[in-house]
Amino acid sequence: MSGESSKDEEEDRIYMETVSAPTNIACIKYWGKADVKLNTPINDSVSVTLDQSDLRAVTTAATSKGFVKDRLWLNGVEVLEVGRRFEVCVEQVKALASDRTDDNGVVLVTKEELMTYKVHIASYNTFPTAAGLASSAAGYAALVFALAQLFGAVETFPGQLSSIARQGSGSACRSLYGGFVAWKTTADHSKAVPIADEHHWPDIRALILVVSDAKKDTSSTSGMMTSVDTSPLLAHRAQHIVSPRMDQIEQAWLHKDFDTFAKLTMMDSNQFHATCLDTYPPIFYLNDISRSIIHVIHAYNKWANQIRAAYTFDAGPNAVIYTLHPYDVELGALLHHLYPSSVSNPNYQSQIRNHTLDPTLLEAIQRTPTPKSVQHMYYTKSGPGPQSLDPRQAIIDPQTGLNTYQPPS
Ligand code: DP6
Repeated sequence: MSGESSKDEEEDRIYMETVSAPTNIACIKYWGKADVKLNTPINDSVSVTLDQSDLRAVTTAATSKGFVKDRLWLNGVEVLEVGRRFEVCVEQVKALASDRTDDNGVVLVTKEELMTYKVHIASYNTFPTAAGLASSAAGYAALVFALAQLFGAVETFPGQLSSIARQGSGSACRSLYGGFVAWKTTADHSKAVPIADEHHWPDIRALILVVSDAKKDTSSTSGMMTSVDTSPLLAHRAQHIVSPRMDQIEQAWLHKDFDTFAKLTMMDSNQFHATCLDTYPPIFYLNDISRSIIHVIHAYNKWANQIRAAYTFDAGPNAVIYTLHPYDVELGALLHHLYPSSVSNPNYQSQIRNHTLDPTLLEAIQRTPTPKSVQHMYYTKSGPGPQSLDPRQAIIDPQTGLNTYQPPS
C-alpha cells in the first residue's frame, strides 16, 4: 500500500532548478562551421563574458515522471517545434545524470529512470532576442547549466557541458565560464577553455550601444554557412590569421595590455565584417550609425594619443565598446552626447551627465549629435559564468509544471 502511494507521489513530483547565464562578446570572432551537425567551428575564438546584472538569460528546468513530452517556453510563449539543437542538449545532459537521492543518500530515482523523464523548460532574456547581443549564447548556456543541475550531471571530461552547449549554439560554449574565455577546437573535443576569470582585470568595462533591437535579417547560422561556401577571405582568415591573433590576444589579456587587446579586437571585428561583405551574396550587419561609432572611437583614441576604447560588432548593428576605468566616464559622456539614449545603470548615468567634455575632444570628433539613433546604452563589465538561483525565482509552477513568466508589457 505504502509502495503504491509513493509510486503515485513520484508520478506527481516535479523536480526543478532555476539558473541564470551570461552573454559573451567575442574579440576574435567565430564565423564558419567545420561540421554543421556537430556545430564545430573553422577557427578558434575568444570572448569576454559580461556581468549578469542587466544582460542575462534566466531558465527554469523541470522534470517529472508525469510529463508526457518535452516542452519549451521562450519569453513567455510556448515554442511548438522545439528543434534538433534543443533536443541534442537535453539528451546529452540527461546521459550524464546521476541517481537522485534524499538527504540520507537513499536513492529516490535511479539515473536510468531519470533519463526517461521528459523536461519542461521556461526561459527569458532581460534584453532583446536575436538582435546580435548574444541571446542564443546566454540561452543555451542557461539551458545546459539548468539541466545539469536538475539531473546532477557529472562530466566525463572537463568542459563537457560547454561542448554540449556548443551544439545548441556555438558561441554558447563560451558562456559556461566567466571572465576571458577561448573556444578551442581540438581533434577530440571542441569546447570552451577559461583563460582568466572575471576578477583578473577588474578595470575592464563594456558599453553596449543598442542601435537596433530588431531581429537581424540574416541569422548567424545561415550567414556563416554562405560565407564558408563563397568567401575566399574567410578561408584565408581561418588558415592564416586567427591562430596568431589568438596567441597575441590571450597574452594581452593575461598581461593587461589594453593597447594590444583593443587593436586586435577592432581589427578582428573589421575582418569579420569584411568576410560578410566578401560573402556572395553579401551580408550587411553594420549600418550608418555603426560606421559612425567606428569613426568616433578612432577619433577619440587619436585625440587621447592612446588607445582607450575598442569597438566590436557581432551579427548586427549594435556596438560593444571595451574600455578601461577611469576612461569609462569620459567615453560614456561623449557617446551619450553624440547618441543620446536611456542608460542601464543610474549611478553611471549621473556620472556621465555630470562630466564636462573637453571642448578640444568635441572639436576633434567633428560630429553632430544624432538623437534617436541609439535606443539604449548598457554599462557593464566582465562577469562570472552561470549561477544557480533561489527556487523563488523559478518561472515554472511547481504544482502544474507550466510556465509562469509573462513579459513586461
Ligand atoms: C558573430 O553562435 O550565434 O557572434 O553556432 O550557428 O548558433 P550558431 O552561431 P552563433 O554565432 C555567433 C557569431 C558571432 C561571433 C562570435 O560570437 O564568436
